[in-house]
This record gives sequence, C-alpha cells and structure tokens, in this order.
Amino acid sequence: AGAFEHALESLRAGEPILVHDAADREGETDLIYHADAVTPEAVARLRNDAGGLVCVALGHDIADAFELPFYSEAVDHPATADHELGYDDRSSFSLTVNHRDTYTGITDDDRSTTIRALGEAAATPETTEFASAFRVPGHVHLLKGAPDLLAQREGHTELGLALADAAELAPAVVVCEMLDDATGAALSPADARAYADRHGFAYLEGSEVLERLG
Ligand code: 5RP
Ligand code: CA
Ligand code: ZN
Ligand code: ZN
Repeated sequence: AGAFEHALESLRAGEPILVHDAADREGETDLIYHADAVTPEAVARLRNDAGGLVCVALGHDIADAFELPFYSEAVDHPATADHELGYDDRSSFSLTVNHRDTYTGITDDDRSTTIRALGEAAATPETTEFASAFRVPGHVHLLKGAPDLLAQREGHTELGLALADAAELAPAVVVCEMLDDATGAALSPADARAYADRHGFAYLEGSEVLERLG
C-alpha cells in the first residue's frame, strides 16, 4: 500500500504518522496520533521524539458543540487583536484543558487521560457534558479546525482532522512538532522522513494530503 493508505491504517491502529505541512508555510513536521489511541507511552514519544507543543485538534462542529472558542476570540486582551503570523491568516488555538481525573495534568499518565477522553468526547458529543469532564485552563492545548477544513486552511490542524475523517475516525487528533535536538530548529523533512523509516511510520507531505482530500 502507498504512504497515504499506510497513514490511514496507522491512525486506525493507534500508531503515529508524520505530516510535513509545506516549505512555504511553517515548514514543520508534526507527529500525529488519533486521540483515542494515546497511551502514556505515546505521550512520552511526543515529548521525547517530537519535542514541540502537544495539542489536540478538534473538528469545528464538535468544538462548537462543546462551546470551545478560538482563543483569540475568547480572550479580551489587546494582544489578541492581530495574530500576525508569518505563515497563515490566523492561529487555530482554542482553550487549554485537563481531564478532571488528572492531578497536575502534565504527567504522561495525566496527559494521556486528557487526550484519550477528548477522543472519546469527539466520538460521543451528545452524551458528553464537557465542563463536567474537563477543567480549563489545563496542560493540553486545544486546536479548533476550520469549518470547511482543507478548503479554508492548510495547517496541521486541518491536515490531521482530514486524515482522521478519511480513516472514518472521530474528529480528534493529537499533534506535536518534531524539533531537532541538536539545533532546536524544526526537524528537516529529510530527517523526519528518516525517523519515520527507522520506526516504520508513515510520512506524508501536506501536498499529498491535499491531492487526495483537498
Ligand atoms: C501548535 C502549532 C502547530 O504548528 C500545530 O501543527 C497546529 O498549527 P497549524 O494548524 O497552524 O499547523 O503551532 O503547536
Ligand atoms: Ca528529543
Ligand atoms: Zn503546524
Ligand atoms: Zn507549529
């Protein structure tokens, strides 16, 4: 099977995939799992092997159902007026959360509890009372997908959610940037691909995802 099919299979099987957005966007490769599948060992891989910010992207409708706003719209502070990103019109950040069954929220156990519960909430929005299950602020950053996904925005938020949808999974994925331990910069696509090959993980270019799902 090609890399695209391998990626969908991996998401279903609880294995990570790597997605590079584009050289003329962030130029970052995110390590991505479906939220349902995130164990403490997966959180350890995200912080050790990826090293960026651990975030959970939720589909726009699910986020709306849980009354989760874009951060910039929720916080009335002069600094939120203009995101001024070099690579996109706006950020996809929403609130930060912890599951109420966590203690500090940051340990691998705690973050996996929060992330898996977000996956379950996305699969069963009608029976989820969000505020009874989660507290805000917390240690997992939520991202909110654009309403029309890849038609409107080509971030890892939308790339990950579009792949979950193609895999017929609920709209909740965890994403984390791969950083280079030696330089602190974004891990190069060549090194990200080598990491994927070493571990047998699927690696996709954003352009390949856009061709299939855009
Ligand atoms: C949050 C980010 C990441 O780049 C993440 O991939 C989500 O952002 P985007 O959808 O803009 O790619 O900055 O850590
Ligand atoms: Ca590391
Ligand atoms: Zn990104
Ligand atoms: Zn980023």
